[in-house]
Amino acid sequence: VAGVTGWVTGLGAPASGGYPVTGDQPLREPLASTSNNGALAVSLTAAPGAAVAGQAGAGLGFNGGSPGPTLRVRPGDVLRVRLINHLQQPTNLHTHGLHVSPERNGDNPFVVIAPGEVFDYEYRIPANHPAGTFWYHPHHHQYVADQLFGGLAGALIVDGGPDLGAVMDRVLLIGDTTLDGAGRIAAVSAMDRMMGRQGSLVLVNGQHQPVATAESGVPERWRLINACTSRVLSLRLEGHQLTHVARDGYFLPVPEVRDRIVLAPGNRADVLVHPAAGRHRLLTDPYDRGNPGMMGGMAATGSTAANGPITLATLVVSGTKSRTASPPGALPAPVLPTGPVTARRTVTFGMQMGMGGGGMGFTIDGRRFDPQRTDQAVRLGATEEWLVSNTSPMDHPFHLHVWPFQVLGTSANPVAEESLRDVVLVPAHGWARLRVTFADFSGRSVYHCHILDHEDAGMMATIQVA
Ligand code: C2O
Ligand code: CU
Repeated sequence: VAGVTGWVTGLGAPASGGYPVTGDQPLREPLASTSNNGALAVSLTAAPGAAVAGQAGAGLGFNGGSPGPTLRVRPGDVLRVRLINHLQQPTNLHTHGLHVSPERNGDNPFVVIAPGEVFDYEYRIPANHPAGTFWYHPHHHQYVADQLFGGLAGALIVDGGPDLGAVMDRVLLIGDTTLDGAGRIAAVSAMDRMMGRQGSLVLVNGQHQPVATAESGVPERWRLINACTSRVLSLRLEGHQLTHVARDGYFLPVPEVRDRIVLAPGNRADVLVHPAAGRHRLLTDPYDRGNPGMMGGMAATGSTAANGPITLATLVVSGTKSRTASPPGALPAPVLPTGPVTARRTVTFGMQMGMGGGGMGFTIDGRRFDPQRTDQAVRLGATEEWLVSNTSPMDHPFHLHVWPFQVLGTSANPVAEESLRDVVLVPAHGWARLRVTFADFSGRSVYHCHILDHEDAGMMATIQVA
């Protein structure tokens, strides 16, 4: 098991001191650790002391970095991760979106790694696993939001797939956090936990407003990961359109040219960028994901409709070559759920006052998470349709582990998608309809709201596939 530390630099040393560092640091990428001969073994130490937003030692990191190293594997590989917990709380690891077994030391959300303890994960990636953009983060119930907000996340790339004609391949892991006056991760109020905290700093690869350089006419692939604890990103790049090729690690049937990419917490998008000369900001615009009515006067952080766009990074493009907006070659045809639908289920996101001593309760089907209880029992190999309904006045992103799903429609957009994904935003007082085949793996896992404050408050449930 090899340790992984450090950064890909070549663009200057990592920033240190002086918070917040703004507008002039070169964008860096976490060091990538790549499999060979069918295996990748890494050791990840989760610990305080990582630099966040240019503030040395402010956050939590893996092997001293936030984000942690980018793990690059291929279909058919075995990925071994030794997780060493040097945090003050229990933790564990979730390989978000990866289609691997949830049993034993696979993508098992029920593992508890106490402070000071070590756990060896082994993920066997199927030979027919899609090539795409995934990520990893801790998943210990009640600490997920704090640990992600502290900086514990990293990219997980399954390499392979078609040549998209991109010369550069960048990971842009977008997170957010808040630092206090002492340069530490700020304490979070009960109100922020209820709304789903939104940090005052939106970071790209742990940096505040870094500068990326590119050359005109040289196409790039950007792997955009929404690793924010609770923020919905509504992304645009000034002066550019983005060619959307994959969502949550799964290729779209045809590339879609877009002005804007909306990512709920947990979502990813792979886009092709054809850089045009000049200076262009990557922005996120306000996204109003609703607000509990009774809190109307309190302008909580969850509702940002009143604020303006936030600059995430600046792209500085040199050269004068004309833009080669040549479309990528054919994308692999999506594999959608087929076969008879053998069960229809409804799961309901809800919010109720006065649970657990006066606070707001976040529930699925009226209940809080209980790891002992089985909420859905599913037959291995079955294709099912789930109606995820939302009786609350806030949007909630629904995430199912292990088994990706097809969205058949939502109350905001009742149109079936022709590709798979693993997070879908369920509109306030609305619904989403999904079709999913519980293929390949039996075992016990979870589905939950990916506003991780809500998940930690109980908006998670268990599924048993057998
Ligand atoms: Cu990215 Cu269960 O979470
Ligand atoms: Cu939620």
